[in-house]
Parts: sequence; structure tokens; C-alpha cells
Amino acid sequence: MADDTLLTGIDGHVATITINRPDKLNALNEAIRGGLCGVLDRLEADANVRVAIITGAGEKAFVAGADIGEFEGRSPITQHRVMTTTNVFDAMDAFSKPVVAAINGFCLGGGCELAMACDIRIASETAKLGQPEVNLGILPGGGGTQRLPRLVGLGTAFKLLYTGDLIPASEALRIGLVDEVVPAADLMTRVRALATAIAAKSPVALRYIKEAVRASARTPLDEGLRLERSFFGLAFASRDKAEGVQAFLEKRKPEFTGA
Ligand code: COA
Repeated sequence: MADDTLLTGIDGHVATITINRPDKLNALNEAIRGGLCGVLDRLEADANVRVAIITGAGEKAFVAGADIGEFEGRSPITQHRVMTTTNVFDAMDAFSKPVVAAINGFCLGGGCELAMACDIRIASETAKLGQPEVNLGILPGGGGTQRLPRLVGLGTAFKLLYTGDLIPASEALRIGLVDEVVPAADLMTRVRALATAIAAKSPVALRYIKEAVRASARTPLDEGLRLERSFFGLAFASRDKAEGVQAFLEKRKPEFTGA
């Protein structure tokens, strides 16, 4: 991207993507959505990157939603094209490596949908989450009506979607919308520690775990169990499996390569 609304840094095997538009509470405009799809493609292809973190710049917001300014005057045809060609939610869902969302503030609408497309959500105590689209006379368009009920159950999802209410991080934790809440000052330290711990595991195992767990939301149980067994067989053929088993037997730490 020519501008700096998306920052990417790589430390060891962990990539950190920062949506950097704090004056607009990191609202997702078309450029950011397109750029994010491109960044995910690049990180997917980079074998050195094993885990990704996504967060928002500044202290106020993760992402306060789609850029509402872009809605005004836009034709339905254009809106449909934008939602199809820069579908960052599907791109995040399809990304094969573990992704942790570091929710550092407002996490609303498309921001909440982006976080829900990640694998693990860790929020700061100051974060506020919600799907306020109903207040604009629209509904979530990035998976909110589908991923939210799968995470929190139908009734709780309806409540959030019908009212558009924002909830604090503590409530998001209680309903299962986020997985951990930490003091704001500790957020990135905690997320980096978790990401680094995951990055030390076998990339082969991580990839298959992710694909199997993702499939659990889409497939009947017996099909999912079959898929799991197939992945188990594939992982069994990996050098990482040979290394993991050997390291255990030799009482040392394994060194995984992802092969
Ligand atoms: N799209 C575009 N701009 C947004 C935005 C969004 N989703 N959310 C915030 N902004 C902009 C504001 O317009 C404002 O810009 P300005 O300074 O040029 O006027 C700036 O970000 C700061 O937001 P502001 O509303 O002044 O902050 P606040 O602390 O008073 O309120 C929110 C914070 C999150 C409650 C409020 O910004 C809000 O309701 N945002 C929209 C949330 C939403 O409906 N998201 C779903 C979209 S589908």
C-alpha cells in the first residue's frame, strides 16, 4: 500500500498487523480492506511467519466498524462489489495460520466481525464490543449474523444484534465473545507471549488443527471426525511428527520446521 493505514511487523515467527487510522477509530475503508487482504496473502506465503496478531492503532479502538462515510451515496452494485472483492472477513477465515486479535478498544460492527473471524480474541479491560448496524438501518455484512450465534448462542446473539448495544470486555468474556481480558497496559505483552508460545509448535500440526476446527462450524460431526482422522494421518507423515516424538523420547525441546 502506498499509505501507512496498515502496518506490518515481523518479530521471529510472529507477524503483527496494525490497522492504523486512529483518527477514524480504525474504521475499515475500502483501501484498508483491500490492503488487509493483500497482507494476509503475503503472510500466508511467508514460511517464516507462523502466527499473526491483528490490532488497532491508538488507545481508543481496535476497529469501530466499516467506514460509515463510504456508505453515503454508494450504489448497491458498488457496495456488493466492495463486499465481494475485498472480503477481509472471508480472507481472515481462510488464512491458514493461527491469528490472535488484540482488542484494544472499540470493536464494533465490521471490527467485531473481523475479530470473530480470527482464532483467539484477547481484549483489554477498556474494550467495548457490539454489532450496532441495526442503528444505521442495516445488518452485519461481514459474517456477524453467522459467527456471533456460533460463538455466543442464538439468544445472546439476537440480543446484541437487535439492540445494537455495546458491551464491556467483562461481559464479552462472560458470553464467550472474547477468550481472555487483561489490563490495557498488558494487552500486547500478553498477546505476544501467547503468539510466541503458539509459534514454537509444529506449523504442520497448527495448520491441520486450524482447518479441522474451522470445519467443525461447517460440517456434520461424522464428516468432521473423518476429516480429523485424515489430517492426523497427514501430520503423521511429517518431519515435525518425527522430530516431536524423537524430542520427547530424548527428553529435549523439539525444533519444528513445518515440514
Ligand atoms: N466509520 C467512519 N468514521 C468513524 C466510525 C465509522 N465506523 N467510527 C468512528 N468514526 C470517526 C468519527 O466520525 C470521528 O471522526 P471525526 O473526528 O472526523 O468527526 C472519529 O472517528 C472519532 O469518533 P467519535 O464518534 O468522535 O468518538 P466517540 O468516542 O465520541 O464515539 C463511537 C465512539 C465508537 C461510539 C462512535 O464513533 C460510533 O458510534 N461509531 C460508529 C460505530 C458503528 O456504528 N459501527 C458499525 C458501522 S457498520
